[in-house]
Amino acid sequence: MTTEPRPDETQHTSEHSTRSRSHTRRAFLGGTSAAAVGVAGGAALTGCARADTDADAAAKAAEALPSPTAIGEAQIPFHGERQAGIATPPQAHCVFRAFDLAGAPDNRRDYAATPRLGGDDTKRFAAALKGVLRVWTDDGARLVRGESGLADMDPELAENPARLTLTVGFGPRLFDLIGRPELRPRWLRQLPAFEIDDLDDRFNGGDLLLHIAADDPLTVANASRLLSAGVRGLVVSRWTQQGFRKASGAHPKDMTQRNLFGQLDGTVQPDTGGDLVFCGADEDQEWMRGGSGLVLRRIVMNMATWEEVDPPQRDLSLGRRQSTGAPLTGEHEFDPVDLDAKDKAGLEVIPPQSHVARAHARTPEELFLRRPFNFTSDAGGGDPESGLLFAAYCANVDRQFLPVQERLAEADLLNTWTTPTGSAVFALPPGLGESQAEAGGFLGDGLFT
Ligand code: HEM
Repeated sequence: MTTEPRPDETQHTSEHSTRSRSHTRRAFLGGTSAAAVGVAGGAALTGCARADTDADAAAKAAEALPSPTAIGEAQIPFHGERQAGIATPPQAHCVFRAFDLAGAPDNRRDYAATPRLGGDDTKRFAAALKGVLRVWTDDGARLVRGESGLADMDPELAENPARLTLTVGFGPRLFDLIGRPELRPRWLRQLPAFEIDDLDDRFNGGDLLLHIAADDPLTVANASRLLSAGVRGLVVSRWTQQGFRKASGAHPKDMTQRNLFGQLDGTVQPDTGGDLVFCGADEDQEWMRGGSGLVLRRIVMNMATWEEVDPPQRDLSLGRRQSTGAPLTGEHEFDPVDLDAKDKAGLEVIPPQSHVARAHARTPEELFLRRPFNFTSDAGGGDPESGLLFAAYCANVDRQFLPVQERLAEADLLNTWTTPTGSAVFALPPGLGESQAEAGGFLGDGLFT
């Protein structure tokens, strides 16, 4: 079974724009002359050879420093075979926003309900959807380049793309609304109810998803405002959930992020190059090939009761050490998990009810890409509620994600401190190539052919 260390954690130096490189060079040249003046004064006292060495060292140090605005200037291309924001190294800030098509019946109480619609209704919804996707495609392509959207009154806010990505998804009901239920991927439906769930209508379902992520929270907020303003009247907001990860530059570049329990979270990941994360030839819906399925679970983490648990108990409930992320059967984070290893008393070293033992893939198909984002928000009454926006990406939710979620819902020691309060599933269409865009294409246009 292929697992590779966190393809999502690699740093993004190669994505820095040429603008940022020239900026570095300018800073370096300016720094050198200032350093040279200082060093020249000292050289009179200590000799020229020493001055040269110091100047060289200062120059080297200046060159090694990234441009002070490198994080803000970095860009991720909008166009491509796959939508950005899935296998992209995750950014520090994000917002997941769900929308319903305007005028669609309220289905918060019954997601499975199929709306009864006439031909005029479905035509109207299809036209609205097309309009939304065109706006998001056009404005999105501009925003990721640091350009403002058309008719934007605040172009200054778009200047720092900071690796901005926006990823679009379709909820299960959308296909009925536009009169094309036959185009819905088989695996696209609301997850079954699990006993561990305490779902809140405020965080479930949705006809459309917009996932916006960047390394600058201002960029995320601006893109979120602009992209929703551009489709006002066509959609209504259903829910908004903000998440964060470690800040760029705050930790060693390839370190796995920690969740709010303090655990290294995101170690075991599939190869994003195969057919596990993106739909391949075996996806029935041809228009979805190159796309991906997203399961988003909002999971509250009970910090107060977790704080009462001592480190050995914490490690046993996870199956890994919180300090290093190493499995209890290994020494280092990326050592293999050995679920058969026994201690001297004949007991499993990794408890069978631990999170890792329950979640570990039993077949090569049970792998999916996990991109968890932390959240803290007001739970009502002023106290913060903490947790994880658990985002899982896979080619087939039924085959890859569901068996793992079912096992975890049945038994998982971590359930003692966690409660899912939101759940949504989306089909993320493939990306839009540059030539397709030039020919008038837009994200998700496969639905209209
Ligand atoms: C608040 C809820 C959760 C927390 C705090 C959490 C935390 C963790 C941590 C710390 C690890 C070990 C390191 C790693 O491989 O990333 C892990 C592994 C994993 N988790 Fe979770 N997780 C949560 C929910 C979920 C859910 C809902 C699923 C899927 C339905 C899931 C699936 C997995 C999988 C597949 C692994 C890798 C297991 C392996 O092969 O070793 N987790 N999780």
